[in-house]
Amino acid sequence: MNYYIGLDLGTSGLKGLLVAQNGKIIKQAMAEYSVIYPQNGWSEQNPEDWLNAMKKVLRELSDGIEKGIKGISFGGQMHGLVVLDEYDRVIRPCILWNDGRTQKQTDYLNNVIGKEKLSSLTANIAFAGFTAPKLLWLREHEPDHFKRIAKIMLPKDYLAFMLTGVFSTDYSDASGTLLLDVKNKRWSKEMLAICGVTERQLPTLYESYEVTGKVKSEYNLPNAVVTAGAGDNAAAAIGTGTVGSGACNVSLGTSGTIFLSSDNFSVDEKNALHSFCHADGKWHLMGCILSAASARKWWLEDILGTCDYDADEREVAKASTEGLYFLPYLSGERSPHNDVNAKGAFIGLTAQTTKAQMSRAVMEGVAFALRDCLEVAKQNGVNPTYTNICGGGAKSGTWKQIVADVLGIPVHIPETEQGPAYGAAILAMVGCGEYATVEQATKRIIKFKQVIQPQNTTEYECKYCLYAKLYPALKTFY
Ligand code: XUL
Repeated sequence: MNYYIGLDLGTSGLKGLLVAQNGKIIKQAMAEYSVIYPQNGWSEQNPEDWLNAMKKVLRELSDGIEKGIKGISFGGQMHGLVVLDEYDRVIRPCILWNDGRTQKQTDYLNNVIGKEKLSSLTANIAFAGFTAPKLLWLREHEPDHFKRIAKIMLPKDYLAFMLTGVFSTDYSDASGTLLLDVKNKRWSKEMLAICGVTERQLPTLYESYEVTGKVKSEYNLPNAVVTAGAGDNAAAAIGTGTVGSGACNVSLGTSGTIFLSSDNFSVDEKNALHSFCHADGKWHLMGCILSAASARKWWLEDILGTCDYDADEREVAKASTEGLYFLPYLSGERSPHNDVNAKGAFIGLTAQTTKAQMSRAVMEGVAFALRDCLEVAKQNGVNPTYTNICGGGAKSGTWKQIVADVLGIPVHIPETEQGPAYGAAILAMVGCGEYATVEQATKRIIKFKQVIQPQNTTEYECKYCLYAKLYPALKTFY
């Protein structure tokens, strides 16, 4: 039997899956690390913490079957800026995807370079979390660090580099740097010049399923190769079988995303949705909200001081929110508002409002924010007839029903909710020749256990119309 390892480099921890060549999950492992918040709105992590997590997870998963591991791949948190010096030492902590320090640089890119130019070069405009504004920030605020940069990497590419010694990335993750010409799948020379970097400092580009190198001997996995892997949303889409035109995936992770797969390249007219490469070799449009499962975690753990998600779930299932709304902009918002200053809010509280109603409002607020993104997709003629779902938040049956009701489409539940790690294992299998294409692999491997039909669509349609008025009304307060 051949075995494959899929690694998901998340924001709260690194998850690993050991998967047999037929797609059966044999073992899981997890190692956690923390986020550093040096200032309000900033978020960083130490790449060394990821490396230690990867070593631990690889040891646990491969224990006793080291020679049977044929391939490893990654899904990784996107957009993070990892910089190495000429001796391959990490220069400073990684600036993460949900870091909001680059408002000035984002404004410069969007207003001085101009959205039209950015979109024609990269198919996207600047968002504060993207990598290019971070490079501009580093050049301005830490010029000594900037001068020392020999290699610029995305988070998962750092792990792949440590594992193989090969300096590589894949098109899906590279799309989120704002340095890639997404349509033509090459680094944009103009964008590199705007950010003051050269192609020599950037990794070689691969398709997500292409083999980039062999695992170094120190890891004791003598037969394992590594494929380039993907950004976590593209990897999650592979892990839920979201491949080809019309397929859609919702991820309820730390961030929330709606991922619209397509066989063809396209750009959202207003650039509110990202236009990125997919891990199957094609493209996708994506809306990303910055707080999804993290909003529920904040509400339960930080505010209510409980980790009893099951008890909350039981109460939420019976609660109804009536005139109560929650805006999930706890870390500002990416899609569709592109506003680092947006703030979270409960609207419509009364003396009778209960804890359970507020918990339910949090779930509904996240679903409404995803609906905002879906509305933009519809304006572009992209009308998914169903969605798949994955991520930690998808463990909640009530939340999945709310997503079906608010989006107004059936939600397909895959047998495993481990989207990115499972997708990464599939990318490793394709690279090693177990399957001819990603599409063939997903068709054979991915199974669904349930379909949740939308039920309360009329009620939620009315609620969404009101929700959609709240951000524009509150914007002036931020
Ligand atoms: C996508 C994004 C997030 C991170 C989370 O654009 O920023 O989904 O990838 O890990």
